[in-house]
Amino acid sequence: MSDTGGLLRDKVILVTGASSGIGAAAAYLFAREGASVVLAARRREKLAALTAELTGKGFRASSVVCDVTRAEDARSAVEHATRCFGRLDGAFNNAGIGGDQTPLHEMGDEVYDTILGTNVRGLWNCLRAEIGAMLDNGGGSIVNNSSVAGLVAIPTAAPYVASKHAVVGFTRAAADEYARRGIRVNALAPGSTRSEITVDWYARNPGLEDAVHALTPQGRTAAPEEVAEAAAWLLSDRASYVTGTVMPVDGGYVNH
Ligand SMILES: NC(=O)c1ccc[n+]([C@@H]2O[C@H](COP(=O)([O-])OP(=O)(O)OC[C@H]3O[C@@H](n4cnc5c(N)ncnc54)[C@H](OP(=O)(O)O)[C@@H]3O)[C@@H](O)[C@H]2O)c1
Repeated sequence: MSDTGGLLRDKVILVTGASSGIGAAAAYLFAREGASVVLAARRREKLAALTAELTGKGFRASSVVCDVTRAEDARSAVEHATRCFGRLDGAFNNAGIGGDQTPLHEMGDEVYDTILGTNVRGLWNCLRAEIGAMLDNGGGSIVNNSSVAGLVAIPTAAPYVASKHAVVGFTRAAADEYARRGIRVNALAPGSTRSEITVDWYARNPGLEDAVHALTPQGRTAAPEEVAEAAAWLLSDRASYVTGTVMPVDGGYVNH
C-alpha cells in the first residue's frame, strides 16, 4: 500500500455520510492512515467514484448504499463491512442533514421529521448495529458527528440544534454503558466546515458566513480534513482512555 501513515493500521472502519464533505475527507484520511474503509451513503455514483479513487491508489475500500433512516440499511452496512474485511473496529457516524434557517414557530412537522429522522434515528439505527458487531469482536471505537449546535444554540435552527444535542446524549449514554466491554464512544462538535451543507446554507443566507466567521476566534471556515483528523485520532488506539467526550473542532467558537 502506498503512503500509509499508520494511525489506523489494520482497523476496519465504517464511515456514514461518506459521499461528500467531512465523511469523504474522513474516508480518504482513514484509508491513508492504514484502515480498511467502508463508505456508506445514499448516492451510489458518488460512493463508487470515491471508492474507485481509493482502491486505485492501493488503499482498501468498499462502498455500500445506505439510508441511515432505515434500520435494515444500517444493519446491512455493518454486515457489508464484516463480510468484506472480517470485522468492525470503528465507525464514524457522520451522516447528517442541515435544514433551513427558519423561526421555530414557522417550521412544519416535515422539517422536524426529516432532521430528527436523519440525525437522531439514523444515529440510533447505526449505533445498535455497530455495537452488536463490536461486541462480537471484543470492542471498538465509535465517533459520532455532532456539531457546535450540540453544545450551544445557533439561531433559527431549532430541530438541528435539538438533533445535535441528542447526538451528544447518545454518545454519553453509549460510552457509559459499554466502557467495560471495550467500546469507546465519543463525539465531535465541528464548527463551520466547508461542505455541501455550508455551501448551501451560505448561498441561501447572504451575510451568514461573515457573521459565523465574526463569532469564530480563528475567523474562518474549516476544511473537512481538519475535522477528519480529530475523528481519526479518537478512532485510534492512541485515544485509548478517552470515552464519553465531545471534542469541539471549531476554531474556538464554543469557547468564545
Ligand atoms: N459543515 C459544517 O459546518 C458542519 C458543522 C457541524 C457538524 N456538521 C455535521 O457533519 C456531518 C457531515 O456533513 P457535511 O458538513 O460534510 O455535509 P455534506 O457534504 O452535505 O455531507 C452529508 C453526508 O451525509 C449523507 N447523508 C445525508 N442523509 C443521509 C441518509 N439518510 N443516509 C445516509 N447518508 C446520509 C450525505 O450523503 P447522501 O446524500 O449520498 O446520502 C453526505 O454524504 C453532518 O452530520 C453535519 O451535521 C457539519
